[in-house]
Amino acid sequence: MVHIDSLLHAGYHNPVQRPWQVERTLTKGSLMYPIFITDEADSLIPIPSMPNQNRIGVNRLEEVIAPLVQKGLRAVMLFGVPNDSVKDALATAADDPAGPVIQAIKLLKAKFPALLVSCDVCLCEYTSHGHCGHLNEDNTINNEASVRRIAEVAVNYAKAGADNVAPSDMMDGRMRAIKQGLLDAGLSHRVSLMAYSAKYASALYGPFRDAACSGAQFGDRSAYQLPPGSRGLGRRAIERDVREGADIIMVKPAMFYLDIIRDAKELAPDHPIAAYQVSGEYAMIHHAASAGVFNLKTAVLESMASLQRAGCSLILTYFTPELLEWLN
Ligand code: PBG
Ligand code: ZN
Repeated sequence: MVHIDSLLHAGYHNPVQRPWQVERTLTKGSLMYPIFITDEADSLIPIPSMPNQNRIGVNRLEEVIAPLVQKGLRAVMLFGVPNDSVKDALATAADDPAGPVIQAIKLLKAKFPALLVSCDVCLCEYTSHGHCGHLNEDNTINNEASVRRIAEVAVNYAKAGADNVAPSDMMDGRMRAIKQGLLDAGLSHRVSLMAYSAKYASALYGPFRDAACSGAQFGDRSAYQLPPGSRGLGRRAIERDVREGADIIMVKPAMFYLDIIRDAKELAPDHPIAAYQVSGEYAMIHHAASAGVFNLKTAVLESMASLQRAGCSLILTYFTPELLEWLN
């Protein structure tokens, strides 16, 4: 016997009613596409660990991005992939005016002025040791020196024309240092700061480190990225970055950390919340679909729905090109 207080079906039987039940509708404007810029200017090099993704040379960028902008792409995030010969202990090459990131910012802003250009800011792609900051003699992180260098790099990306800077290094106090640097440079009104606040030490970054050639040469990142089982550190990092002037709060990875996305939405209800569906999540979904586990489109759209349901309004995903098609 079905009771009157058991009845849910009527509310979503008719397809027109289903969107009324959904927390937030996915639009093209909810997406940011992370791309890898190699310093081999004429190259377009497939990334074996990330199907359909390439390391893009500056001279190949327009041909890759133009069709996506045509389809409604609104935002990209840049990662630099320099060759080993320019790497040193201090990440001197990170803000080289002739380096891949600054060249890409200038080209993208010239060709696609309306496209929001965000830059990941970190040192690991540029350090010989592969860690995200400067090191002390004993190979621990020198937080002060790291923050100083990261803020300098962020401001130089902003000066080159970036619309958003997003430090992924996880040093303490870098938000405040970058915000102050942007203010001092007269850029704080037009360059936003996206905090990789709750960034966990995750196995899911594997394909990325392969793509960006940014793996640590010794040790790992667990002294600065958060322990996966910790909710408290994630919450404290979110609250800290709000205090230090972040404009957008990000949680990373996404699917294993949906509770933290929900925490971010509760702790920072007046900030946009972003989720980064990272390289390992991308590869998992891709390979599972290829193995016939599920339909790619259905699974990707479900993953997007889960992130929005958890509380985010911006999603960084390597599925952006497919989503721009599917959202037509
Ligand atoms: C660099 C950085 C990483 C990612 C974004 N910025 C790798 C890491 O911290 O090891 C991961 C992105 C991805 O896996 O897609 N600090
Ligand atoms: Zn890093």
